Amino acid sequence: MARFSVLALLPLATAKAVMPRQTACNNSPDLCSKSYGEITHLGAHDSPFLRDASTDYSTFGNQYFNTTVQLDAGVRLVSGQVHKKDSAWHMCHSSCDYLDAGKLSTWLSEIKSWLDDNKNDVVTVLLVNSDDASASDLHSQFQAANLVDYAYTPTSQTSAPTSWPTLQELISNNTRLMTFVASLDASKNTVAPYLMDEFTYIWENPYDVTSPSNFSCNPDRPANLKNDLSSALSSNRLPFMNHFLYQSVLSLEYPNSSYVGTTNAPSGGTGNLGDAASKCKEAYSRQPAFILVDFFDKGPAIMTVDNLNGVTNAVGRTNTTSATQTSSASTYSNVFKGLVELVRSAQLGANPSMGEWIWAGGDWGSLLGGGIAL
Ligand SMILES: *[C@@H]1O[C@H](CO)[C@@H](O)[C@H](O)[C@H]1NC(C)=O
Ligand SMILES: *[C@@H]1O[C@H](CO)[C@@H](O)[C@H](O)[C@H]1NC(C)=O
Ligand SMILES: *[C@@H]1O[C@H](CO)[C@@H](O)[C@H](O)[C@H]1NC(C)=O
Ligand SMILES: *[C@@H]1O[C@H](CO)[C@@H](O)[C@H](O)[C@H]1NC(C)=O
Ligand SMILES: *[C@@H]1O[C@H](CO)[C@@H](O)[C@H](O)[C@H]1NC(C)=O
Repeated sequence: MARFSVLALLPLATAKAVMPRQTACNNSPDLCSKSYGEITHLGAHDSPFLRDASTDYSTFGNQYFNTTVQLDAGVRLVSGQVHKKDSAWHMCHSSCDYLDAGKLSTWLSEIKSWLDDNKNDVVTVLLVNSDDASASDLHSQFQAANLVDYAYTPTSQTSAPTSWPTLQELISNNTRLMTFVASLDASKNTVAPYLMDEFTYIWENPYDVTSPSNFSCNPDRPANLKNDLSSALSSNRLPFMNHFLYQSVLSLEYPNSSYVGTTNAPSGGTGNLGDAASKCKEAYSRQPAFILVDFFDKGPAIMTVDNLNGVTNAVGRTNTTSATQTSSASTYSNVFKGLVELVRSAQLGANPSMGEWIWAGGDWGSLLGGGIAL
């Protein structure tokens, strides 16, 4: 009663600020008591590699919106490749000559700002360690971004835990950043134990899919678990579901954006995310812990994640579905034509897969004959 009478004397705006806000963890009150490893986190594949005006609508861009917008919209895993450029660490798509999204520390600072502004959210960062950065190389980037204090440190660096903390525990401790690196040698990592070697804690299904009927729930990586579902499940590693479609032109692969409305949809159409997730959930007797998609706003992919998490009351999210960017057709087709000409003129003896290459890192310049800029 006393509290109400005080509030009654305050102007409305002030009264609103005084009211305790509804506690939601990762956009839902229902998720606070859930373990980090038990729920599904929506992931944006290649978060900083954009198909927008900043990259002239690059055919190789995987997302229409930047990392901040992804997080605002409910994405809780952001990912990208780390490459060495001159003596600095950059976020580059396959090679820094073709799509350089800037310094790793700058990207991490963007995530730090977001965590500063969103205190009830747990975010996962997945770094593909294309040029074998050491733990101390990466640590210095996290330090430069002032991100180390947010980082959760696992209880063991060499094996997956039987259970993970709840979102509420991570939030209460303010260790709201989970960081995985593919890959990092734990035995050499004494400087930054919060940098978790991805395949110690996670296994993934195949990522190099070029036909909507070929999505699979089977383990693909780490190599010792390939096609061995029962060992993957009993290893305590978290199931990570890649769900994006490549298309190829003259044996170069890049994201299929024309079909993504179906690829990311909650139902309907071959290869839709909702059906694939249900199938994997059934095969695993648990929901996948992560789902990684291209063009996350399409589908919208978050619907499948909400369904798996039983979330019907999401709060504090921006809906980007209505604001989805599409490239201007002429710009896009010019880039595409340029790409085809480029590839035609390139040396393609090796028949490489862009999908393999995107994940493993590689020298695009020499692959394409060198000296060619997209
Ligand atoms: C992300 O995109 C939004 C919307 O286009 C823009 O306002 C914001 O400045 C961008 N943020 C960064 C860090 O680039
Ligand atoms: C939270 O912090 C306390 C005190 O440092 C620690 O004992 C506990 O293990 C932490 N919990 C988690 C989930 O990390
Ligand atoms: C789809 O999978 C089948 C069976 O594994 C394989 O033969 C076929 O080449 C795959 N198709 C594509 C487009 O990758
Ligand atoms: C994208 O995938 C759809 C479905 O497989 C296919 O019909 C379409 O041709 C693909 N786009 C390109 C440009 O390959
Ligand atoms: C987002 O906006 C789209 C288009 O306006 C709408 O169809 C959809 O229901 C909205 N989604 C949510 C979760 O509000």
